[in-house]
Amino acid sequence: MCGIMGVIGRENAVPKLVNGLQHLSYRGYDAAGVAVYNGNTLDIRKTAGTMDRLRDLLEGQPAEGSIGIGHTRWATHGAPTDCNAHPHTDTDGRIAVVHNGIIENERVLRQRLAAEGITFRSQTDTEVVAHLIAKFNRETCDLRCALRKTVEVITGAYALVVMSVDEPDRLYIARKDSPIVIGLGKDAGYVASDIPALLPYTRDILLLEDGDIACLSQDAVNVTNKDGDEVQRPFRRIDWDQEAADKGEHTSFMEKEMDEQPEAAARLLEAPLVQSKIPSRVTFVACGSAYHASLIGKHYLAELAGIPATAEIASEFRYETPLSLDGQMAIAISQSGETVDTLMALRQAKERGADTAAIVNVQDSSIARVAGAVQWMHAGPEIAVATTKGFTTQVLALLRLALDWGRKNDTLRANEVQEWHGSLKELPRLMREVLVKYGNGGLREGAEECGAVPCFARQNIAPRLVFFLGRGLDTATAMEGALKLKEISYQHATAYPAGELKHGPIALIENDVLVVALATQRELLPKTISNIREVKARGARVLALCQQQDEAALANDADEVWTLPNAPDCLMPLLAVLPLQRLAYEVALLRGCSVDKPRNLAKSVTVE
Ligand code: F6R
Repeated sequence: MCGIMGVIGRENAVPKLVNGLQHLSYRGYDAAGVAVYNGNTLDIRKTAGTMDRLRDLLEGQPAEGSIGIGHTRWATHGAPTDCNAHPHTDTDGRIAVVHNGIIENERVLRQRLAAEGITFRSQTDTEVVAHLIAKFNRETCDLRCALRKTVEVITGAYALVVMSVDEPDRLYIARKDSPIVIGLGKDAGYVASDIPALLPYTRDILLLEDGDIACLSQDAVNVTNKDGDEVQRPFRRIDWDQEAADKGEHTSFMEKEMDEQPEAAARLLEAPLVQSKIPSRVTFVACGSAYHASLIGKHYLAELAGIPATAEIASEFRYETPLSLDGQMAIAISQSGETVDTLMALRQAKERGADTAAIVNVQDSSIARVAGAVQWMHAGPEIAVATTKGFTTQVLALLRLALDWGRKNDTLRANEVQEWHGSLKELPRLMREVLVKYGNGGLREGAEECGAVPCFARQNIAPRLVFFLGRGLDTATAMEGALKLKEISYQHATAYPAGELKHGPIALIENDVLVVALATQRELLPKTISNIREVKARGARVLALCQQQDEAALANDADEVWTLPNAPDCLMPLLAVLPLQRLAYEVALLRGCSVDKPRNLAKSVTVE
């Protein structure tokens, strides 16, 4: 969602602010702005729209100053307009604030401030914060103290960065439940809402705890905790490099990240496995694709480790009747580690008595810090809004966990463990094979030949309805395929367990409907074939995905069959999702959609 960048150094901060915001733009935004101290006053340039509009604005009306803050805004309170863009200032324009998150008691505070004579210029909750800091600063003449008093009266989630003409050699930073990272480079101090913005300048990163307030100068950080006591927060070295966060020769981050899946899987297979006591029962909490991964994890735990599990959508779990989870384990799954619903669900599970663990990609993220144990995904930075390697590494992490617990629980015999070992070793090669077969294939303008996926995408660029069907593990893969298509190509698609079709949705099947039938689960194949026949008989066009060995069984019933290498059924989600990601990608390109930054979406969803 929103992005924050702050710089305090010797040179003009504006280019670094713009560069940092550009690196954060993958998170999704609809307005951008910067504020710098020009030696006399605060210069603010902000605009609705893209970073290009901000650059144009800065070209027409340059701003210069060695200390500054910048922001990309994803609208929550108020429309994406120039005046709602951050930074926001107090009435005198002496204090500027950028903010990620939501101030929940904004309305009450706004009314109170209005009653005291404050006139608001925007609809944002952030402007309330700017006026509060100014009010407390007038009372205390101490900006840190004013910020502390402000965070004592606001509720909700926030990362705040504050600058003032009265203290032009420092930035103040506060956080609660919203990510913020601080870095010290060779000649400047930096603060940002996410690591990629800082990678060009430093890889030594300091993370704040909830309730901390930091004072950042050019070469030092001083942190006080929620009780006002000075504390040392350690610096960590980030092992991602800039190249990993750039798209290199790929046309988009999503394409790069799809292609990186075999190497991400290989990296994860080499990585240590989290050690924890084996739970008697598991509750997964996750959102979106991570929820789909957890549905697969639920199957893995039951089948391989004999452990019953439930998969819960985090935003629902948070508000269900809080029954005791004593003796159980809650596992949060999250690429970003910052999805607020997943974070809160995990916290709640802890309060309800569960042991906690998490499967996370981003080091030191909030979820990783709350969880009792963490399995890292080792996917490397994922920049495209739609997850690809994030999803496959989540699924693989779950498979490894289930195999480990199965071995320790004696639900898997030694020879089965051995066989699995062999299958996992083969996985990156099989993934590469599928990516080569169902990769780009020459769709681009003027190409004479067309690969299977781009050709299919061209023929099915705008079906009236798309159903993704599957049984067992294929149901979750179908859900992931439908979500990918929806979110990046804006084609409405829906996923169903194939057996559910007859209980209602089959009424929608007629000519012009596309059915993508996942048929990779061998034991369930006859049943899935029956469902394919049912939709064919009603006029649907059917694309089926199956293991190579089952191609003949499907050839007469489906209009088109995409085959995957023969492998254990449990590996199929990791292979079948690859052509589905590519299908969504090709349809999105044909429809002229922005694949890396689909409309209305944000990379890490830090508001409810
Ligand atoms: C879909 C997608 C989202 C995320 C969801 C959870 O392509 O990316 O559905 O999976 O927002 O995000 P994380 O894993 O960061 O918690």
